[in-house]
Amino acid sequence: MKNVLHIISSARGSLSHSKGLSSAIVKKLMDKNDIKTVVEKDLTKEFPPFIDPELIGEFYKHPDSILEDGKQLFTYANTIFNEINDADIIVIGTPMHNLGISAPLKAWIDQLIRFGITYRYDSDGVRTGVFKGKKVYLAIASGGKLSDWPNQNEYIESYIKTVFNAYMGISDIYTFRVESTANTNLKIDYQTFIHNI
Ligand SMILES: Cc1cc2nc3c(=O)[nH]c(=O)nc-3n(C[C@H](O)[C@H](O)[C@H](O)COP(=O)(O)O)c2cc1C
Repeated sequence: MKNVLHIISSARGSLSHSKGLSSAIVKKLMDKNDIKTVVEKDLTKEFPPFIDPELIGEFYKHPDSILEDGKQLFTYANTIFNEINDADIIVIGTPMHNLGISAPLKAWIDQLIRFGITYRYDSDGVRTGVFKGKKVYLAIASGGKLSDWPNQNEYIESYIKTVFNAYMGISDIYTFRVESTANTNLKIDYQTFIHNI
């Protein structure tokens, strides 16, 4: 039985297509009867704090050298680390905003990824992410279509795959897209986008 963490990062609530698609993914996983718990975290109801000079100062210290005052700054970072640690499957919904991920999702990632905590270097300088065996389903909603852009302008899937693999050790990542949401006549059945789950 698996634990699911569902990250929502569009502020549009029930109108959000990335939330609709990611929720359909969660439901489909639950229908398979292999899910023990689902933790839903809407980053737009409780915005991740932006990293500031104090936190940045502590972030890049070796974990063993961080003093008590510094540790107080890690409350949010530790909470979301534990949420990821407890999850077997992470379902992430993001709108495409100016070709990239949403700002709350970026702020969450900036709090999550930490030297010595989510990735380490061995004595040969080789970097390894600490998480093993986790799976990510990424649900992207965009007003237009990816195919309208040259391949090199894909910044969401490529970014999430690179950063999760390099700094967390998570490489089992599957992407689903709902596109052309700017077309308000569009009737969207999210199930049709996730038939291969
Ligand atoms: C600030 C902002 C920037 C956007 N940038 C893009 C974009 O670069 N490309 C695109 O196709 N759609 C863009 N859109 C449209 C959204 O991707 C679209 O509305 C999508 O459905 C948002 O996801 P949501 O429904 O989960 O909120 C943008 C929308 C907003 C509000």
